[in-house]
Amino acid sequence: MLLTIDQAVEFLRSGEVVVFPTETVYGLGAVASNPLAVENVYKIKNRPRDNPLICHFYDIKQIRKYAKIPELTRFLMQKFCPGPISFLLDITTDSPLLPATCGLPTMVARIPNHPLTLKLIQKIGLPLVGPSANTSGKFSGTDVEMIQQDLGNKIAGILDGGKCQIGMESTIIDARDNNTIKILRQGIIGKPELAEAVQKTRFENVQILDRNSTQTKMVTPGSKYKHYAPVTPVIWVKSFAEIEQYKHKHGQTIIFGGSLSDLEKIKPSHNVIFLGETIPEIAKNFYRCLFELDQKKVSKGLLFIPILDDSSISLSLIDKINKIIQSEI
Ligand code: TXA
Ligand code: MG
Repeated sequence: MLLTIDQAVEFLRSGEVVVFPTETVYGLGAVASNPLAVENVYKIKNRPRDNPLICHFYDIKQIRKYAKIPELTRFLMQKFCPGPISFLLDITTDSPLLPATCGLPTMVARIPNHPLTLKLIQKIGLPLVGPSANTSGKFSGTDVEMIQQDLGNKIAGILDGGKCQIGMESTIIDARDNNTIKILRQGIIGKPELAEAVQKTRFENVQILDRNSTQTKMVTPGSKYKHYAPVTPVIWVKSFAEIEQYKHKHGQTIIFGGSLSDLEKIKPSHNVIFLGETIPEIAKNFYRCLFELDQKKVSKGLLFIPILDDSSISLSLIDKINKIIQSEI
């Protein structure tokens, strides 16, 4: 059921679970301080109980009611929020947000950049948990059709904000010590964007550790779980030669992102699910294309994105792809 903001507010206040839009992916929302509502989010998602939930806020002032914000974190929040970035913060042992954090003395806070959801949180006046709106182990929902098919009647309803503009989950950072920025999860804001933000400021000497640094591995409980996988096994191919090689063994369905001239080369021999021509387009359509692959009910799918580079969006995509291909082929 599609909801108005006022209906969504009503449902959330009475402890129900409502899906809300963000610029990254849709979130499965509940009032973060309501243990029963949060419990329902875990049930609906079938999410492991040791995997805490991101809390969504309206603005920095609202976050401050629940956590002390260290200087560097505050600086980055002022630069990037609302936006596709989340921050690890310390909370007290009697915090009302403990239902959302699995009892951990930390929370991940985010201010999403979507007018409907900002309005929603402002009206409720309380933070909302918002794990991605998908059953655990599946890829995230980036439009209403995907969510309806996956979560359907398990939820009170959906606040329809259209197709998510970015299509990849937010970057998660830990900047609590004021000297380092640890990237715990790569989203479209990465090392270069963070480095640029601190340049020529009092924070210009901070160290930025990307997700491959040993110091940042496994800090995010969710990173140990498999994510994003479609039902259909996916084979990641890196060249035209490989496409040819796999064609007879693994069928002709291919998810492709890249130039129109390369698209023309593939079209005659394959059923193409087209991601788009540019990296931002590809990120935006990525989960939707996995959804479309599953609709086709084929035994296997190929994935080919020859234009991937070392930009933050590409790195985020590569992380997702690696999680998909970890699934059994
Ligand atoms: O873009 C996003 O961040 C989306 C939208 C809806 O805001 N949300 C999202 O939530 O991706 P989720 O639950 O799918 O991913 C949150 C990640 C998980 O890997 C979780 O383990 C980690 O954040 N996390 C949440 N709270 C944490 C905490 N207190 N300490 C460490 N990691 C935490
Ligand atoms: Mg998720």
